[in-house]
Amino acid sequence: MVRIHLPDESFPVVEPVELEIGFGRGDFLDKVSALHPHITYVGVDRSWGSVKRAHRRLKDRENVHLVWGDVWEFLMFGLRGVRFHRVFSLFPDPWPKRRHERRRMFNEDFWKLLSIRTKEDAHVSVVSDERFFVRWAYDNAISAGCWWGYVSYTERRFGTKYEERWLREGKRVYQAVLLKDGECSFRIPETTLRIPKIKSVSREVKPGHYPLPDGSHLSVKEVVVDRDGDKMLIRAVISEGYLLHKVWFVVFRRGDVWYVEPSRFSRFFPTEGLQHALDLLAEMLSGRTRP
Ligand SMILES: C[S@@+](CC[C@H](N)C(=O)[O-])C[C@H]1O[C@@H](n2cnc3c(N)ncnc32)[C@H](O)[C@@H]1O
Repeated sequence: MVRIHLPDESFPVVEPVELEIGFGRGDFLDKVSALHPHITYVGVDRSWGSVKRAHRRLKDRENVHLVWGDVWEFLMFGLRGVRFHRVFSLFPDPWPKRRHERRRMFNEDFWKLLSIRTKEDAHVSVVSDERFFVRWAYDNAISAGCWWGYVSYTERRFGTKYEERWLREGKRVYQAVLLKDGECSFRIPETTLRIPKIKSVSREVKPGHYPLPDGSHLSVKEVVVDRDGDKMLIRAVISEGYLLHKVWFVVFRRGDVWYVEPSRFSRFFPTEGLQHALDLLAEMLSGRTRP
């Protein structure tokens, strides 16, 4: 039975484990998981529509897990302790415009992160109808310093929606195959969160953009104050490298002390960036920093 997971979850898997990034309708997972029942397939896709469709389709498959979330989040925080034997990315969004380049997967940092989440003899296939994208992904892997491989045309049929579409339009399909050659270093900014205490709340936080250390940013979107003034909700987005935390912070009082913490209903990861945001909010609320 296929299960759906969140990107920071760990769950039991039987090795070997292969990963598909951006599975779309689940065409490839459907095909390979039936062909290789002894392999566990993990698919990650950030679109809920894709997750639902693939789940319906693969319902009875025992060797497939679907993760709903961003692949950066999953590779940093999900399925800890597991390393992938093979990784596939079939027709990822190429973001061809220069100003959208930062949205592309397979930049140098991504290859470094992949190197710490894959087996020693792992290989990664990046497949696309966009030659520039495959070339770009390959160049970044080589610059990362822990991959080697090649770029080629491919006759192989992965059987996905996008492959069918591009072949119908007479396009060629290219692939970069990268083999792991050592391990790069990649630091995951994880920490144990300290919940700040505030002696007295003397000031409200105002919506706006606030810089945080290490190039992170806190963007306060909304502030809601309880009628009695005993509780406050702050909706914010924190961008920290490749991570985006979407958080409702709760400011509340216990006796004489106030606390500010991320609500459990938010989507956040316990990282240094989040800690900086908490500390800054505490400073603002106590009036030590100008909001
Ligand atoms: C162009 S579609 C390709 C789908 C499928 N592989 C195919 O060949 O038909 C790209 C897929 O990647 C997913 N995706 C894009 N960026 C992602 C990210 N950062 N993390 C996880 N999934 C992502 C999208 O939601 C979408 O389903």
